[in-house]
Amino acid sequence: MFLADKNETLLKPLLIEEVFFGEILSGGSSMATAGKRLNTAASEESMSFVKALQCRECGKQYPKAPLSVCEYCFGPLEVSYDYEALSNKISREIIQRRSPNMWRYRELLPIDTEASVGKQVGFTPLVKASNLAKRWGLKHLHVKNDSVCFPTLSFKDRVVSVALSKALEFGFDTVGCASTGNLANSVASNAASVGLRSYVFIPANLELGKILGTLVYKTKVIGVDGNYDDVNRLCSEIAGKYHWGFVNINLRPFYAEGSKSFGYEIAEQLDWQVPDCVVVPMAGGSLITKVYKAFNEFKKLGLVDANHSRIYGAQATGCSPITTAVKAGRDFIKPVKPHTIAKSIAIGNPADGYYAIKTITESGGWAEDVSDEEVVEGIRMLAEDEGIFTETAGGVTVAVTQKLIRQGKIKKDDVTVIAITGNGLKTQEAIQDHLVKPQVISAKLSEFENTIFCDQPTL
Ligand SMILES: Cc1ncc(COP(=O)(O)O)c(C=O)c1O
Ligand SMILES: [Zn+2]
Repeated sequence: MFLADKNETLLKPLLIEEVFFGEILSGGSSMATAGKRLNTAASEESMSFVKALQCRECGKQYPKAPLSVCEYCFGPLEVSYDYEALSNKISREIIQRRSPNMWRYRELLPIDTEASVGKQVGFTPLVKASNLAKRWGLKHLHVKNDSVCFPTLSFKDRVVSVALSKALEFGFDTVGCASTGNLANSVASNAASVGLRSYVFIPANLELGKILGTLVYKTKVIGVDGNYDDVNRLCSEIAGKYHWGFVNINLRPFYAEGSKSFGYEIAEQLDWQVPDCVVVPMAGGSLITKVYKAFNEFKKLGLVDANHSRIYGAQATGCSPITTAVKAGRDFIKPVKPHTIAKSIAIGNPADGYYAIKTITESGGWAEDVSDEEVVEGIRMLAEDEGIFTETAGGVTVAVTQKLIRQGKIKKDDVTVIAITGNGLKTQEAIQDHLVKPQVISAKLSEFENTIFCDQPTL
C-alpha cells in the first residue's frame, strides 16, 4: 500500500448516520439570514451581458436568481446572453491582451461584477501529444491538461469559481455541493479562500486523496452511505430547506457556464480554430455540452470561422448510461447503478444526459465506454508517452480515444483534442497494484550496478 491507513479514523469524513444532522444544519444564525439577504436584482454597475435564465424546453424566462428548474415544465434553466451587444465588446485582440486565466472570456461568463473567487483559474496547457500520436498513427493530437488547473487540479475549479462568485453576488454566506470528489475539493478550497462556509456531500467510499483533499480546508464533509445519485437526492432536499448556495443545484445554471472556458481555451490555443474531434469524459454530462456551446458561441461572435467539431463522449463501462443510449440510438437515459474505479464520473442518473446525447449526435460525434482494465491502461499510456499523470476519468478518455481511432471514427488527419480533467495523485488506488516497486539498495555503487541489470519486482 502506498497510502498508510493507520490514521484511518482521522481521515474519515463524517458518515451521515453518525451525525446529528439537525445540530449541523441549525448551527448559527448567519445561515438563517442568508436566504433573506439574497440579492437577485441586477447590480447597477453590472458588466454582464446575461439577459435572463431561460428554460431549455419551453423557453420561459426567469430573472437572474438562484434557480435551476422551470416551474412550468420542470425543464432545466440555462443562462442566455445578449450576443448582439456582446459582439462589439469582444475580439481576439481584446482577449489576448488579458491575463492568462478563464476570466479573459469574462463577457461570456455569467458574473455581474469582477469575479471575486478563483481569479487565477484556467488557461491550462494545450500539450502537443506527439508520442501518443505516433503510437496511434495520428498527425495532430493534443491534450488539454486540466490536471494542473489551479487551485485543486481539476476542471471543477472553472465551474466553482463562477458558482462561488455568483453565490457572493447573491449574498449567500454558506455554500455546498453534491460531489464525486473533484467538486468537493474545489468547493472546499475556493470557499476557504474567500471565507465562505461550506458543506460538502460525497459518497462515503471515495478515494482517500479526494477525501483528504477536501478535509484539509476545514470544510464540513458529510460522507453519505450510498452512491452519488443518493447524495444528490439528499442535497436537493437540503437545498430546498436551508437556502444555501448549492453550486450544482440552485446555482447550477451559473456554475455550468464555467465549463465553457475549457472550450474557449482549446479554440484560442489552436490559433482560433476548433479541433475536428474532442473526446470528453462524462458524468452528469454538463462539460461536454458546454464545450460544444463554447465553440458555437465563438462561431456566432466571429472568433472562429466555423464549428465543424465532432464531439465524442467517454464513460467507464461500469457506469455508462450516456454511451449506452447513444449506441442504442435512444435520446433518453436509463439510469444505472455505478460500479467502476472511475468514481469521479460514476453518475448513474446524469442530470444533463439528454443534452449530452443531443450534443454528440448533433455534432456528428459518437460515444464509447471502456473497462476498468482499459482505464488503468489509459492512465499508463498518458504517463509513459506524455509525462502526464491523470486520474481515472483521464484514463477513461485516453482509452476511449484509442478505441475510437481503432473503430475508424477518429482519422489520421483529424486535429484531435483529448480532455484531461483531473490529476492522478488523487486516485492512486487505481494504479497502485499495477506498478513496479522502487528498488531499495544500500548506498554502494556496486549494489546499484547489480540492480540495473535486474528486472524490478512487481508489487
Ligand atoms: C475529473 C472529472 N472529469 C469529468 C467530469 C464530468 O463532468 P460532468 O459532470 O460535467 O459531465 C467530472 C465530474 O465530476 C470529473 O470529476
Ligand atoms: Zn419550461
